Amino acid sequence: MEVIILPTREQATMLTARLIAKALRQKPSLVLGLATGRTMERLYSLLGTMHREEGLDFSLCRTFNLDEYIGLPPDSPYSYRYYMNEHLFKRINIDLRNTHLPDGMAADLEAACRQYEMQIAECGGIDLQLLGLGSDGHIGFNEPLSALRSRTRQKALTPETIRQNASLCGGEQNVPRRALTMGVGTILDAKRCLMLVTGSTKADILAKAVEGPITSMVTASALQLHPSCRVIVDAEAGQFLQGKDYYDWIFRNEPEWAEYQDLAR
Ligand code: GLP
Repeated sequence: MEVIILPTREQATMLTARLIAKALRQKPSLVLGLATGRTMERLYSLLGTMHREEGLDFSLCRTFNLDEYIGLPPDSPYSYRYYMNEHLFKRINIDLRNTHLPDGMAADLEAACRQYEMQIAECGGIDLQLLGLGSDGHIGFNEPLSALRSRTRQKALTPETIRQNASLCGGEQNVPRRALTMGVGTILDAKRCLMLVTGSTKADILAKAVEGPITSMVTASALQLHPSCRVIVDAEAGQFLQGKDYYDWIFRNEPEWAEYQDLAR
């Protein structure tokens, strides 16, 4: 795992956008795993600007979202399909046929999950998986005690997750109780992972995920097993990390980060 702590939310989000843009320029047919949540809203707006102003080209890019609520049609403003269309897909030149989310409206949800895994495999696997961090330590909707080898499947959401996502759904009463989500094992199969975490409300759970023991109680901690995982955070989210000085030293001295030094000022 590599952890990069930048002073502000905007700088952390910009670094994440630039890392995605670089991966896409290196491989225009990138298979990109996507996430939802408030943290990603600014990131997607930055990617939209990069498309408009720098010609960042998504025409060959294929995307797979981590998760989708069960029972919400794509045109529901609370569905993740709607979120993705509004926040990202409308702002870039992606072919909507190349964008995928688990089908939370399928009559046979188990078959839909199997099909999602097959679609990912048919694309050659996910090249770069973007991740946020839930306040209970989840990635995707892998709630506490999710098997660390799990695949795409149904999960019941915790009351904490329902509360956390209430503001995006116009109140707790509108948040579905179940979702389809890539499993922790599905996420760990991505060639590279990139997690963006900002704000002081995530500081405690981030320290557990990054520096605590690997445990299914905090499914993000499974990322410690991933051979290529970058975690980008702002100073507020990173405030309880014990290895801060070492992470800063890496960012300032390792050649792979040289082109991003303007962001640390
Ligand atoms: C939801 C998503 C997660 C995301 C989390 C963080 O629970 N299923 O994939 O990481 O929200 O949300 P926010 O960025 O709003 O804190």
